[in-house]
Amino acid sequence: MGLPSIPYVRYNDDPQILMKKHNICVIGTGYVGLVTGTCLAELGNWVVCVDSDSKKIALLKSGKLPIYEPGLDKLVHKNTKAGRLHFSGSISEGIQFKGRPAEIIFIAVGTPPRQDGSADLSNIESVAEQIAKNIKTYTLIVEKSTVPVETGEWISRTIERANTQKIPFDVASNPEFLREGSAVHDFLHPDRVVLGVSSKQAEAWLKDIYSPLKSPILVTDIKSAELIKHASNSFLAAKISFINAVANVCEKVGADVVQIARGMGMDKRIGPSFLSAGIGYGGFCFPKDLEAFYWISHKKGYDFKLLKVVKDINEEQKNWILKQVEAELWNLEGKRIGVLGLAFKPNTDDLRFAPSLEIIQQLLERKTQVHVYDPVAMPKAKTVSGYQGVRFCKDAYECAREADALVLVTEWPEFAKLDFKKIRTIMHRPLLIDGRNLYDPKKLRDLGFTYKSVGRP
Ligand SMILES: NC(=O)c1ccc[n+]([C@@H]2O[C@H](COP(=O)([O-])OP(=O)(O)OC[C@H]3O[C@@H](n4cnc5c(N)ncnc54)[C@H](O)[C@@H]3O)[C@@H](O)[C@H]2O)c1
Repeated sequence: MGLPSIPYVRYNDDPQILMKKHNICVIGTGYVGLVTGTCLAELGNWVVCVDSDSKKIALLKSGKLPIYEPGLDKLVHKNTKAGRLHFSGSISEGIQFKGRPAEIIFIAVGTPPRQDGSADLSNIESVAEQIAKNIKTYTLIVEKSTVPVETGEWISRTIERANTQKIPFDVASNPEFLREGSAVHDFLHPDRVVLGVSSKQAEAWLKDIYSPLKSPILVTDIKSAELIKHASNSFLAAKISFINAVANVCEKVGADVVQIARGMGMDKRIGPSFLSAGIGYGGFCFPKDLEAFYWISHKKGYDFKLLKVVKDINEEQKNWILKQVEAELWNLEGKRIGVLGLAFKPNTDDLRFAPSLEIIQQLLERKTQVHVYDPVAMPKAKTVSGYQGVRFCKDAYECAREADALVLVTEWPEFAKLDFKKIRTIMHRPLLIDGRNLYDPKKLRDLGFTYKSVGRP
């Protein structure tokens, strides 16, 4: 079948760049779906973002964002106003929005972990069934969610089964590598775009979309694209666990893990990123993707032992804060601990698999009074049962007041600028446990703090 003709538009008024504009439907309007849909609209496409969560869609329709992501609100408003970005609570409406059938459908729904570590793909299956029932002409269906290898085949089979009209379609894999906290920038300036395709038509349409970004495009088969995502996240998680293991050795011998990471990172074969020792990785991606990769490898007959060890090291590392606090304060019952930061990393409100949750649980189990402050994630934390029982503070100073220890869990930029002279005077005991190696040990000790950081003397 020949390519339907798609109108050309200019990208961001750049006279040098001509691209084809597509009608796109993005199903799942979370961190990935909303950023993807908005950025694709910014690139000149006509986009409908769909979500089954009616509250999210109502918020978006009223001009508000359901998530915090720097720079996203501006782009959402700009593209909604320009008539390129729309929202719908229904897949059937989204695919045939205002009489403009979606040519390309991105699936960006959640793929949460099951109890056994495998990915729960029921959202993907249900979306695939609904797509099959609602397409009327050739459509390209693109996996954006992170999924185990062979999911593309399952999506194809599901659509074929439910697609009684035998409408032609293709499935492609286009894994997303954005990081929460810099998601808009990452989407628009990726290190690479991976396109796992099985037809020239799919490749051509996806290249239309991504060529304005001027980033390297790697075209592969679908299974390899699926594996690139799992392998990349697992490798990054392994780098973090590696440096945390090195930090443990440093603590035994009095060496400095920051210097070691610097020395390792200067080697171009290693590189400096993901070599910051701390209290372990968290978030919605690394823990679940590593588990899902282990699970699918095992299911296919390979015991990927390295991944197990990466996870074990990370689990142990989450106990680092508690160990330090107990080593200094002995019994914790009745003592007051201030926790700075709840989000799994700075510049996001995402609390999924955040180390803060486990750390706070451990403190609460020991009947500690836990006072917390996070610049952005507190409204979300108030709705999460694991954070019940803590006191939410209005700023870092309130959090430190009368505390027996202050622990840094998330390295928000504003925490780097705190007035520790003042904090020293308002704390009950000047004990600072830095889980992110944010502060200068000498400066803090000179101010009179007992200061502990990860893998540093
Ligand atoms: N968050 C990240 O940093 C990141 C980065 C790269 C890849 N990913 C992957 O992208 C996928 C989505 O992640 P996320 O962080 O955006 O998740 P999310 O939970 O923020 O968003 C998923 C959205 O899908 C919606 N949804 C679920 N089932 C649906 C259905 N049947 N129909 C319509 N909408 C439905 C949910 O209501 C939710 O709004 C996951 O596979 C994740 O692993 C995430």
